[in-house]
Amino acid sequence: MPVDTKKFSSVIANEYTNLNCLHSTGCGQLGQADIGTIVELTGWVNNRRDHGGLIFVDLRDRTGICQIVFDPSSLDEAGFQLAERMRPEWVIYTKGLVRARPEGTVNENMPTGEIEVLISQTEILNTAKTPPFPIMDGIETDELTRMRWRYLDIRRPEVLQSMLLRSQVTTSLHRLMTERGFIHIETPILGRSTPEGSRDYIVPSRISQGEFYALPQSPQLYKQLLMIGGLERYYQIARCFRDEDLRADRQPEFTQLDVEMSFVSDDDIMNTIEEVMHNMMTEVGCPFERPLARMTYAESMSRFGIDRPDIRFGLELVDISTIVEKCEFQVFASAVQNGGVVKAINAKGAGELSRGEIDKVAQVASDHGAQGMAWIAFTLAGEVKSPIVKYFSEDELAMIKAATAVEDGDLLVFCADEFETVCAALSAVRLYLADLLEIPREGNALLWIVDFPMFSRDKETGRLEPNHHPFSRIKDEDLDKLESDPLACICYSYDMVMNGIELGGGTLRNHTYDMQMAVFKAMGYSEAEAHEHFGFLLDALTYGTPPHGGVAFGLDRIIMMIGGYASLRDVIAFPKTSSGSDPMSGAPSAIEAEQLRDVGIRLV
Ligand code: AMO
Repeated sequence: MPVDTKKFSSVIANEYTNLNCLHSTGCGQLGQADIGTIVELTGWVNNRRDHGGLIFVDLRDRTGICQIVFDPSSLDEAGFQLAERMRPEWVIYTKGLVRARPEGTVNENMPTGEIEVLISQTEILNTAKTPPFPIMDGIETDELTRMRWRYLDIRRPEVLQSMLLRSQVTTSLHRLMTERGFIHIETPILGRSTPEGSRDYIVPSRISQGEFYALPQSPQLYKQLLMIGGLERYYQIARCFRDEDLRADRQPEFTQLDVEMSFVSDDDIMNTIEEVMHNMMTEVGCPFERPLARMTYAESMSRFGIDRPDIRFGLELVDISTIVEKCEFQVFASAVQNGGVVKAINAKGAGELSRGEIDKVAQVASDHGAQGMAWIAFTLAGEVKSPIVKYFSEDELAMIKAATAVEDGDLLVFCADEFETVCAALSAVRLYLADLLEIPREGNALLWIVDFPMFSRDKETGRLEPNHHPFSRIKDEDLDKLESDPLACICYSYDMVMNGIELGGGTLRNHTYDMQMAVFKAMGYSEAEAHEHFGFLLDALTYGTPPHGGVAFGLDRIIMMIGGYASLRDVIAFPKTSSGSDPMSGAPSAIEAEQLRDVGIRLV
């Protein structure tokens, strides 16, 4: 975990106040101001040192660690014997006098290092087995072991820190949303499947056998129905479930800050949520400059090959299709003649990469769908090395060099194929090159990507699929293209991106029956089929629906990005592995035959 655990401690409150419990304060809260007071502490034995007659224990609780001292002259013999028995992770109660540490024993590395507590009374509340890994920061223990004993992992300060950050972010969002007139409403977990593009988790109904609920992929339709219900401004910290292939930034169950607003433009929604995000991130010590830049989807794809660009570094994609459409290198010429593109990246300073290193770059391109990657290396000595340079005329090479601003010491890499394939390959190559060339990616870069095409065509089925979801509203000026050229239709849409990760996104919605039905029809549904799948929404749209739109942010992703964590697993109390399992509880697991019988299911 690459996180500086002290980074947030100044902004995130982690103190005990208004206590009604066994202890009077927190171990980590003690300081010079407490000297001379009697305190009661509870916690876990972090470690114990026996110094011939004196026993020192570092006592740990949620707020931190402090040193306590057992001196036979200050507590009775039975108490001292208890201290002799104490072992790491035992749970104890103590009472004693806070005093300044004797000169020369102050520990500068410990926030409570100026004081210690001389114990006069103690109790062992519980013993503990030796934990499978040390309860401290910076351990090398593998993640699976830590997940198997997650409750012990959570005792480690750096994990605790992510839980505190999460709590702070959630609390702050609740307040900021409420201040802006949003109402927090919980929507059903057992619902009907709504299409968000992933597979549903399904739950069999016992009462209506053969029928199933779906866990929500998001509260999308419910929040629209709340607008029809007249609530005007809804938000929810909502649990969502998606049965999809997992990655570092995807969990099967995750949390959204889900928002919907009526009587607003897309600008109003972006401005509102941007302000909320700005205030929240400032409160937790991760501010950004407003207003955020907005870039169209088309520009983002063209320059970065992806709709969630990391704009903290260059290595942008350059389209050289028109330069090479008639060149002798057939791979390039035929790609353009077949309606595809040829794009290049100038890998600045990579002109001296070895053949083996260039092959690894090419492997990244082919791992992401490219049939190959061509290259031209310009060495520092002014040589041009490349298997393809012989196919270009002097003019063509000069134009390529001018378009890519290449200089001696640089490497040009190229992909030629359909636009989407080239974008997928070169956007991955771009990130790989940034790592390889150790290009610094400092600070945070947030921006909006706007104006997504409403549809793309599914290669396998040939059907039009909505890029966000079918409830998005096509821009007024594009409506007349819905039948003639649906792929050219742009919808009112916006994604917020931070350092190459999509934090959230949303759209304005279809608020009339006709607009919504037109979209379903473009997707290939008959009116009857549309009613079969979305009857309740279509019905509702005929009862006075206000113009509305919304947005949803991945709360786990926000926390991962603010804290600089590598994975969502670092910011979720009980996360799942990449295969969707929980090594601690053993979920998913087989169930009793009787449970299956109850819901009328037989396993094949
Ligand atoms: P979308 O599907 O883009 O939009 O999701 C919104 C945000 O949710 C987060 N997210 C995830 N986080 C962790 N694990 C996952 N598996 C996962 N999937 C999504 C991302 C993403 O940006 N209903 C629409 C929003 C709307 O139109 O209002 C929706 O859910 O951060």
